[in-house]
Parts: sequence; structure tokens; C-alpha cells
Amino acid sequence: WSSTTEKTAGVLSVGGVALADVVARQGSPAYVLDEADFRARARAFKQAFAAYDVFYAGKAFLSVTTVRWLAEEGLHLDVCSGGELSVAERAGFPMARVGFHGNNKTERELARALELGVGRIIVDSFHEIARLEQLTTELGRTARVMIRVTAGVEAHTHEYIATAHEDQKFGFSITSGDALEAVRRVRDAPGLELLGLHSHIGSQIFDSSGFEVAARRVLALHARVGEELGVDMPEMDLGGGFGIAYTTQDDPSDPAQLATEMTKIVEHECRALGVAAPRLSIEPGRAIVGPSMCTVYTVGTVKEVALDGGLTRTYVSVDGGMSDNIRTALYDADYSATLASRASEAVPVLARVVGKHCEAGDIVVKDEFLPGDVAPGDLVAVPGTGAYCRSMASNYNHALRPPVIAVRDGKISVVLRRETEDDLLATDVGA
Ligand code: LLP
Repeated sequence: WSSTTEKTAGVLSVGGVALADVVARQGSPAYVLDEADFRARARAFKQAFAAYDVFYAGKAFLSVTTVRWLAEEGLHLDVCSGGELSVAERAGFPMARVGFHGNNKTERELARALELGVGRIIVDSFHEIARLEQLTTELGRTARVMIRVTAGVEAHTHEYIATAHEDQKFGFSITSGDALEAVRRVRDAPGLELLGLHSHIGSQIFDSSGFEVAARRVLALHARVGEELGVDMPEMDLGGGFGIAYTTQDDPSDPAQLATEMTKIVEHECRALGVAAPRLSIEPGRAIVGPSMCTVYTVGTVKEVALDGGLTRTYVSVDGGMSDNIRTALYDADYSATLASRASEAVPVLARVVGKHCEAGDIVVKDEFLPGDVAPGDLVAVPGTGAYCRSMASNYNHALRPPVIAVRDGKISVVLRRETEDDLLATDVGA
């Protein structure tokens, strides 16, 4: 739960606003964003990593309003598509503080990034280096470039979100020699200015040994580039991926502790290698926005299903589902849920919170104990939905994507409004 969450007499409130009031005014389901909490997390990273640049990873959640908050808090911004770049542009975010990622950026996206003057473009393939070289010549611009490298680390996370082992699509392999060759090509391209190496090992990672191994390997390459190619790279990015607590089982990352550990590793390695430490940057997304949001749903139906061994499971169907949170279905992610609108003395039952989509895998919370009298009309809230829920939301079954409502000091404001059927039909040319 975000830091301003309170439960009084069974009524859950965030930022001084009862979730029931949010629903009364803005409908259900809704994502509720705790502004103070979001800003505090952004600030905590900024302060802990004071000597670094902290790029907020926009893929976790992006909106014009939150990008403005990030600008105010002094963060940088990582975008990975033309669409995300547009949000930054609309928000008036300083382009020099934007980093542009992606393994297959189009020529148009790259040209736009150059025209807008983004601070750095992280290149991911030889084709992209060639494309960028040509574009900088055509447009008469210089591209400030980082090279995404594969550190060869097996991050302990879900296979689909681990990105530093060899057999996946991102980055130049260090072991094969591609990374060194990429450095050579960028160095030799007149329109490209080489800033440094970039490594991101994956997401929702708790074990800092992965970051340590990656930092060591990337720094070793950094030093080798200096020695063999005579190129001094001023910067290095160690990516994001810091884990958050989705249930009480997890131990959330602490920015101050992360900063201390990372700085220690980097300083130690640089001393051992006899090189000056490059200016570091990191890219947390989930760890900033994840805990700042919860989703509030209205219960529509409740059904008891018999399990083996005489047990029962209570299926609590809510008015959203895999269209507003795909993470449970896609990554087998764990979430929790709580009754948010009233107190209950009823004996808890083993419940599963499911959505309203035409698919059996449409599960929001796999297992949770909810009061046995949970009934239609009750509100159920799911914490920790700030990262990769709205940003990965879909219109499956022509669902309307829920709004994002910011709450702060007892006031609510709309960050993203709820979609309408007209929004959906707007792209349907036959309509
Ligand atoms: N930097 C790069 C280059 C990335 O690819 C990512 C995430 C991040 C930073 C931010 O990682 P974070 O700090 O948010 O973990 N949809 C998945 C996560 C995919 C992450 C993709 N890249 C999920 O819902 O868990």
C-alpha cells in the first residue's frame, strides 16, 4: 500500500480520500494514484543516488501529469517508443534529460528523437548504429549514444522479464565481441558521440548479486575500451529492475541501501581496474510508481466452488480484470486484495478475485482471504498496481480502460480519464 493509505472502521482511504468517494465520483474500476507517495519515492531515489542521474522508466506508467511531477522532482526520463516520447514532449519535459530505448526503433522515431534533441539514444543493434549514422548525416545533428550490452547474468526473475542472459533479443553480447565492435563503430561514426555502456539485467529483482556481477562485467569492458581503443567513455547506466513488495512475503528495495551497494561495487572495481569511475545512471520504473497506485473494483457476483478435500474457493468477480491487470495471467504474479468499503466481522474465506472477461485465466488475485460475507456492491482494492498495469492495459472484450485518479490531501484529480465506447469506436471505420 502507498504511504498515505489508512483503514478506519473498514473504510480504506488514500491521500485523505475514501476509495468509496473516488468510485462515487469517478466510477469503478479505477486506478488510484497517491501523489505524495509517488513524489516521495521519486525523491528518495534522487536523494539516495545524488551523484547519479535517475531516469524514471516510463514504460511502468506514463502520463503527462506524472511526467511533470518527475520534472519538478529533478528526475530524468527513459522512453522506449515514439508514443512515450510524445508524452514527454506534451509535458514539456526537458529533452536533454530524456533517454530513448528500444531494440527496433523506427527511422521516424529516431529522426524525431534527433530533432527534439533527446539527451541520449541507447543503441541496440548494428543496423540501428548504421541507421543513426545515416540520419545524423542527413539531418546535420549529433546523436549522443549509449551502447546496450548483455552482461550475461541470469537474473532471478520471470523468464520474460530477464534481459541479461545471452539468448534474448536485447543488447550486444560482451562475450561474443559484438559489444566491443559496437563501440568501434560508434567511435568511428562522425555524427555519433559515445557516452558509454548500458546494462539492464531484468525486472522485479531482489538479489543484488545480479547487479554486482553485471556492474563488474560492464566495467571490465569499459576499462578495455579505454585501453584497447583509447576511448574514454564518461558515463555508464546500470538500468532498473529493483523489486517491490507485491505481498507481505516480499522485501522491497531500499534506494539508500541500493545506492550504497552499487557505489561500493563501482568504486571498488574502478580502483581494481585502474580507471576513473564514469558518471552513473539508473532507470527505476516499478520501484517508483508500483506501490503508489492501487486499483479499486466493485464486486458484481460471488460464487462458491467446491475443491478437492472438502474445501471451497469463493470466486469474487469484479468489474475489471485482465484488461486492467494482465500481470497475474502473464507472469503468474502475486497480488493481494482487501475489502475497502466497510468493516466485516465475518469469518474469512479463501477467495480468488477474478475479472469479467471471457477467459478462465482472467484472474486478478489468485489467493486471498476475504470476509465470508463479501457481496455484490462491495469495493475491493488491490495494492501495488502502479507499474505495468495501466501501461499494459488492453481493450480486450472491448473493455474501457479505467481512469487514473490522483489523490492528495483529501482532493482528487483526474490524470487519465476513463475511456468511452466512442473512444473505442473512433478507430472502427465501419462505425
Ligand atoms: N530500463 C530498461 C532498459 C528496461 O527495459 C526496463 C524495463 C527498465 C529500465 C525498468 O525496469 P523496472 O525498474 O520497472 O523493473 N512488464 C513487466 C516488466 C517489463 C520490464 C521491461 N523493462 C512486468 O510487468 O513485470
